[in-house]
Amino acid sequence: MSLNNIILTGFMGSGKSTIGRILAKETKSYFLDTDILIESFENMKISEIFEKFGEDEFRNMEKRCFEWIKKDVQNTVISVGGGLPVFIPEIKEAGKVIYLKVSFEDILKRMNEEELSKRPLFKDIKKAKELFIKRDEIYSKLADYIIENRNLNITLEKIKELLCK
Ligand code: S3P
Repeated sequence: MSLNNIILTGFMGSGKSTIGRILAKETKSYFLDTDILIESFENMKISEIFEKFGEDEFRNMEKRCFEWIKKDVQNTVISVGGGLPVFIPEIKEAGKVIYLKVSFEDILKRMNEEELSKRPLFKDIKKAKELFIKRDEIYSKLADYIIENRNLNITLEKIKELLCK
């Protein structure tokens, strides 16, 4: 078990990677992003993986990636893909889980064409909203801490406060 890890969860576009990178730098930890890991393991973009192999195979890749993290990763800030906690509810086994809770409206404001094109499950906004509603409950249930905020600096301050406790 690697209890020193901080795992950031939340819906697509909730700022996990942006916040994770800054947090890692400020806490002198490493930073990992499961989507980037999978893309480099597979040498393919997430959108290509979905297109070529489908979502089920992507979820298997996430499981393999998580197993590796659980076994071999320590002292790291880890941003996980938005679906990972849904398919891997034992996420807490790899570290402290922080849910970055942002409203769907704020997520939409942040998403530009490029960000949308990277995310196959955000192609249909109506379906993405339904997914968002279902997942909020799952993220909340699996989190050690929930940080509800739309401001990057305040979110970072709150996480640092939690880590000092
Ligand atoms: C997904 C979220 C994406 C990525 C994939 C599926 C999801 O990651 O893993 O497109 O199911 O919510 P981000 O949350 O980093 O966008």
